[in-house]
Amino acid sequence: MTTLVVHPCERPLVGSVPVPSDKSIGHRALLLAAICHGKSRIKGFSGGDDNRSTAAALRAMGISIDESGQEVTITGNGLFGLRASASALDCGNSGTTMRLLCGLLAPQPFESTLTGDASLQSRPMLRVIGPLRSRGARIDGRAHPTKTADLTAPLTVHGLPSGEYLGPLEHVSVVASAQVKSALLLSGLYAHGPTYVREPTISRDHTERLLLSLGVPLSTMGPIVRLDPSTWNGQIPAFDLDLPGDPSAAAFLVTAAQLVDKSMVVVRDVGTNPTRTGFFEIARDMGAGIATEPHGERGGEPIADVHAWSAPLRSARIGGELIPRAVDEIPIACALAARAIGTTMIADASELRYKESDRLATMALVLAAFGVECEERPDGLVITGKEGAFTPARIDSRGDHRIAMTAAVMALAASGPSRIDDVDCITTSFPKFVGTLRALGARIDVEGANA
Ligand code: S3P
Repeated sequence: MTTLVVHPCERPLVGSVPVPSDKSIGHRALLLAAICHGKSRIKGFSGGDDNRSTAAALRAMGISIDESGQEVTITGNGLFGLRASASALDCGNSGTTMRLLCGLLAPQPFESTLTGDASLQSRPMLRVIGPLRSRGARIDGRAHPTKTADLTAPLTVHGLPSGEYLGPLEHVSVVASAQVKSALLLSGLYAHGPTYVREPTISRDHTERLLLSLGVPLSTMGPIVRLDPSTWNGQIPAFDLDLPGDPSAAAFLVTAAQLVDKSMVVVRDVGTNPTRTGFFEIARDMGAGIATEPHGERGGEPIADVHAWSAPLRSARIGGELIPRAVDEIPIACALAARAIGTTMIADASELRYKESDRLATMALVLAAFGVECEERPDGLVITGKEGAFTPARIDSRGDHRIAMTAAVMALAASGPSRIDDVDCITTSFPKFVGTLRALGARIDVEGANA
């Protein structure tokens, strides 16, 4: 188990740095390249463990994937070019891998087993299995140990006997979830009949953008998506895609720049798709020093350099449609709230309880350990900003990468060294996290197994 010893910053964080490629888009690009015709190239791929889980699952199903530096070449064999894997497909820590694979594998003519690490084996899966079953998919799972009537991994996706197809689907979801939406759209590529998905508010739309760019007949209207394959030839052409930087990773650096006085940080080539920019809007509302300098598109997604500098922060109310657009950034937004003048209310965020850890409960512990007043509510947190330095803390990340990184960023503004335990998980999304903070001037020691 690896531990970070993070020292308080004695000088400002300064510099211009990249972030890893967008993890969400990476998953989608790999999956679609595997079912297109011919060789696709994904450029700027930084290979966090979650994206590697998707690549490994596809390799196990006979897809050739070659990596050379940051370029990945995938040879697709068409919609029905996947083969049964000889063993269970291990999705590691990646909920996106497991849920999107449910959609892709449900219409295949073979059976698959999907499994993952202990965290993934406790995440709710009925949200994706339920609507897939309602269009004819045969998927079984293990009874969820605590969430009554839900299912969790390992999952068995039985596939369909020859001559059987998935039917049309009209799904109105109660929570905005891009994983569910994407799984249903992937299954819809194989269905006899249209796929209609309506969310309460819009979740990230990378799947829709990519499918549209590849000629799949899909239309969107706000949080409504409709895919109708009846007019489509069933062929996805091979493609080249240059991945944008991950805005979820950029959020940690933007926050570090707020917490360390006089910092000036530039994060280069960050994806600024509006379905992902909730955190930047929250930070701006709280008075953070932040400006985006747009410079065109990458892979059909807008990108910008994000400039961040320390500025006095004020409290905010964070809820409603902002939550799905900042769903992975709520832990690091708590670090802004911890430093803001006043009391920040985070509401409508009960979904955070079903992420890699129960992020409301875990963040309440992290904030308390750093000496920040915090009240946990069923759907959020109430955080009162702390004047002056945070109390040095010892934090257990609970194997959750975003908790580990949030704690490391808060530790930069503590009055003495802090220890963050169980940080190997950081490689799921930001393998060069420590190196990037060091390049900006932070002092972080790495102790333990992978030091
Ligand atoms: C993701 C969607 C979000 C997010 C996750 C990645 C995706 O999950 O939390 O990290 O790539 O589709 P939900 O779909 O469960 O909201």
